[in-house]
Amino acid sequence: MIVKQRLIFILYSLCASVFKVAGTKSKAKGSQGQFPITQNVTVVEGATANMTCRVDYNDNTSLQWSNPAQQTLFFGDKKALRDHRIELVRASWQELTIRIGDVSLSDEGQYTCSLFTMPVKTSKAFLTVLGKPGRPEITGFTKPAMEGDIITLACTTSGSKPAANIRWFRNDKEVQGTKEVNATGKSFTVRSSLQFEVDRRDDSVAYTCSVEHVSLTTPYMTTEVLEVHYAPHLEITHSLIIPQEGQYFKLECVSIGNPIPEPVLWSKDGGELPDIERMIVEGRELTITTLNKTDNGTYRCEASNHLGTSSAEYILFVYAKDFPGPTTDPNALGQHGPDHALIGGVVAVVVFITLCLIIVLGRYLARHKGTYLTHEAKGAEDAPDADTAIINAEGNHVHAEEKKEYFI
Ligand SMILES: *[C@@H]1O[C@H](CO)[C@@H](O)[C@H](O)[C@H]1NC(C)=O
Ligand SMILES: *[C@@H]1O[C@H](CO)[C@@H](O)[C@H](O)[C@H]1NC(C)=O
Ligand SMILES: *[C@@H]1O[C@H](CO)[C@@H](O)[C@H](O)[C@H]1NC(C)=O
Ligand SMILES: *[C@@H]1O[C@H](CO)[C@@H](O)[C@H](O)[C@H]1NC(C)=O
Ligand SMILES: *[C@@H]1O[C@H](CO)[C@@H](O)[C@H](O)[C@H]1NC(C)=O
Ligand SMILES: *[C@@H]1O[C@H](CO)[C@@H](O)[C@H](O)[C@H]1NC(C)=O
Repeated sequence: MIVKQRLIFILYSLCASVFKVAGTKSKAKGSQGQFPITQNVTVVEGATANMTCRVDYNDNTSLQWSNPAQQTLFFGDKKALRDHRIELVRASWQELTIRIGDVSLSDEGQYTCSLFTMPVKTSKAFLTVLGKPGRPEITGFTKPAMEGDIITLACTTSGSKPAANIRWFRNDKEVQGTKEVNATGKSFTVRSSLQFEVDRRDDSVAYTCSVEHVSLTTPYMTTEVLEVHYAPHLEITHSLIIPQEGQYFKLECVSIGNPIPEPVLWSKDGGELPDIERMIVEGRELTITTLNKTDNGTYRCEASNHLGTSSAEYILFVYAKDFPGPTTDPNALGQHGPDHALIGGVVAVVVFITLCLIIVLGRYLARHKGTYLTHEAKGAEDAPDADTAIINAEGNHVHAEEKKEYFI
């Protein structure tokens, strides 16, 4: 009897405790905690996506993953859809994680995790699949281009999702292209074009197309180095500014052009070079080992490529051995050739002559003592502009003082 009572009591308390535990559990979890939690997933095409669904408090209710087409993928640890790319990672009452391998763009969409409580609770996870852009290709350039040609460089990349960004660089400087985007299925073909007239400055210039995309850690780059053909341009440089008898003298025919204009032909006064030992032609250089007065004349070099012919001339004037002044003075008289120093020299001479004229004029006016003052005034009045007026006035004044000393 006692044993029986005890047994009933034990059974009762056992049941009570079980019900109590179950009761508190369902109160705590059923009301607030029992719902699935998922997260959006973003993967690059071809990679593996893990889809995780968690339930913090679960009274052993089944979990399920289904795809955007509402097909069940996994029900608990049981695979429901025959797709070898989809595998189970973890299945427990708290978690159902599946893995989708070799993800394609068509796998994108809203996946659903369901918790089969009453009623069923669901959570949505959006799987975003990024399309990796293809390696860019540059088209539209046929080597070589002729100077003046209008070319259109196009850089194309396909397969990106979302559409990739294309940037152009001329050497290292960014230039703006014209973008065009076409949808091809779920991905995009992006093209950026550059249209321009090529000139000699584009020869050997590198045009780089850079493709940037969220799926790339470093941009894809492709480079096209332009080759531009252009007509020659020649210039003669000379080794001495004042060539004197007996000196060593060298002329160089500096040529640019693509293809390189060759050979360089030298001539003197419209005819062949005199056949003398002192004159040596070596490629673009003409050397006269010992200058002589008889070398006087016009030297010309000429060269061509398939786009044209160019020439340059140099007038040689051989000075006497004892010609005064330093031979390297850039401001000296009598130099020839396309020298920047020549321009400086001319300017210096013009300034010098102008100063001389002012001095002479000043002295002339000062000598005509009686009329000097009125002339001074006139000098200022007659000037075409203020600057000249000041120069005239000052010049006269200075020489007036000088003259005073002479006459007093
Ligand atoms: C997916 O889960 C597996 C197993 O937990 C892990 O090894 C892998 O790194 C995860 N992949 C991603 C993309 O999170
Ligand atoms: C849930 O299942 C586990 C074993 O899978 C079991 O030990 C546990 O008692 C169950 N809990 C409930 C509340 O059913
Ligand atoms: C998940 O992605 C969907 C669709 O892109 C979006 O509407 C939602 O806000 C995202 N949820 C989270 C938590 O980011
Ligand atoms: C986009 O489509 C148009 C019309 O079919 C086509 O002419 C153009 O070349 C395409 N552009 C790209 C970048 O594919
Ligand atoms: C210059 O040439 C002439 C004739 O060839 C020669 O007689 C003369 O000695 C030369 N002068 C010098 C300085 O070499
Ligand atoms: C050299 O050239 C100058 C100027 O052209 C000329 O006056 C001179 O007579 C020439 N000398 C010779 C030897 O030809």
